[in-house]
Amino acid sequence: MNTKAIQQIRALFQEIYGSLDGFDDLLTVLQKASKCSYRTKKKNWYRDNNIVAMMLYPQLFAKNLSGLKTNLDYLSELGVNFLHLMPIFKMPKERNDGGYAVSDFMQVDARVGNNKQLLALIDACNQQGMDICLDIVLNHTADDHPWAMKAKAGEADYQNYYHVFQDDTIPKQYEQTLPQVFPETEPGNFTYVAEMNQYVMTTFHSYQWDLNYANPKVLCEMLSILFHYAAMGVCAFRLDALPYIWKELGTNCRNHPTVHKLSRLIRMICETICPSVVLLGEVVMEPKYVLPYFGTDEEPECHLLYNVITMASIWNSLATRDTRLLQEQIGILANLPSNNTYVNYLRCHDDIGWGLNEATLRSMGSDPVEHKKFLYTFFEGSYPGSFSMGKLYNYDPNTSDARTCGTLASLCGLEKAFVTDDEVMFVMSMKRIELLHKLLFTLPGIPMLYSGDEIGQLNDYSYLKSPDKQDDSRYLHRGSFSFADANKRKEASYQRRIFESIRTMLALRSKGLKLANANITVNHGEDVSILSFNVQDSKKNLRYYFNFSEHYKTLQDGTEMKPYEVLTREDPHV
Ligand code: GLC
Repeated sequence: MNTKAIQQIRALFQEIYGSLDGFDDLLTVLQKASKCSYRTKKKNWYRDNNIVAMMLYPQLFAKNLSGLKTNLDYLSELGVNFLHLMPIFKMPKERNDGGYAVSDFMQVDARVGNNKQLLALIDACNQQGMDICLDIVLNHTADDHPWAMKAKAGEADYQNYYHVFQDDTIPKQYEQTLPQVFPETEPGNFTYVAEMNQYVMTTFHSYQWDLNYANPKVLCEMLSILFHYAAMGVCAFRLDALPYIWKELGTNCRNHPTVHKLSRLIRMICETICPSVVLLGEVVMEPKYVLPYFGTDEEPECHLLYNVITMASIWNSLATRDTRLLQEQIGILANLPSNNTYVNYLRCHDDIGWGLNEATLRSMGSDPVEHKKFLYTFFEGSYPGSFSMGKLYNYDPNTSDARTCGTLASLCGLEKAFVTDDEVMFVMSMKRIELLHKLLFTLPGIPMLYSGDEIGQLNDYSYLKSPDKQDDSRYLHRGSFSFADANKRKEASYQRRIFESIRTMLALRSKGLKLANANITVNHGEDVSILSFNVQDSKKNLRYYFNFSEHYKTLQDGTEMKPYEVLTREDPHV
């Protein structure tokens, strides 16, 4: 191992933990890991134009990992070459938060496949140049994980893996400054555990015990897991709930400065042991908290972050027919550190949170709380004239906060068009779906599709019949993938129109501008419904116009744009 790198790791470790206690354990983990071999890819491979990701649950897509392997061709046909897999590890039978409660990080859950299938999938993907991103759920484990079981049995070493308290005195002090993640379904941040007659911190669900990163053993355990899968050929890891991993009394336990030091440390360690591995931080926070997780050019943290604010701003533009917030976001994309990139997306497995830039909203004369109400009622479909069909998620009557669930097609109006048998609404919804994807594929960063959106999959209401799921409206957009519907891409159908338009756009993207180092300039001054920006690489300078309204619009130069149309022009190269 590189001595200089180890010295740097040691120094940062000491800064985080205040001493070198436990550093020898980390060194042992690193020494062991350095004996394995890892995939090597070219430097900054994740900034390549050709990467196209899809987020999917293997078991919903094709029954299990083996089914996924058999159907890789379908994904390649579309142009997908990076599989963002949802949690696959052993999880409790019920109440598992879609796999985000992990019972064993070393075993694939029987409902998703098995370890052999995973290895076979990784090999098959690597052979055809596809990458896999695995979710190592960083912040917590299930309450039946062996560490939690040992803690319940009274083993102090394992109680120290979590935040365990003798009585509720300290939890009550914490609660004074802790917000709620699921105020409606899971209020509170602590759970009383009868088996040990103690309280444990459970920021998310009561069955998800928060890991205690102040104990360096936890970091060692999680790194060992990461190295294990990296040695199997996995090159990307999603760091779930990253902002939450450091807790401190008197704070809101989110985005603590130490979280940044820890993500910096994990990146340094990966660069030393397995330099082709990239880290995708799950930072679903207000705008000002997201960008810092990239770190700086000198001290990078996550390689990849979800472009969550742009995603929410895109939907905001669709509802308001006003692109000003989105223009601001696209402007931010122009100034990112060079060691990182965004994962751009329109939908994912979670709800859409309306964490828009409040200062900008106010400067536009909108009250942020009222605006949020407008957005969630619009996408729920209850706002007069709305084309969308979605559901509220975690409505909090105290703050009037709520988020939105629903598939892309249903939020764009396709489902309502079918329900109301409205041909015009159908045409408009198809245009919206195309507009959003065109924008997604124009932006620099990794475009990520959500499985099913490529064939316009509609909401799935079957979760309402499951006692375990009916309170969690995110299952609305977590329906099983239908190969019968996907096969309709071969005949005249709306599935074909969506699939083919995405396929064509992706093929064009791979031959188009070199986006990783392109310059972006936002063009202000058109009607607020028009998003316009230029993207320039070393050879070309393209100007885009996206009409986010169902009305005809006239550009400043007199060009007429049709509803939801996208125009591209070549500008002189400067
Ligand atoms: C992440 C996941 C979400 C899950 C939560 C708790 O935010 O995206 O689905 O509920 O973590 O694990």
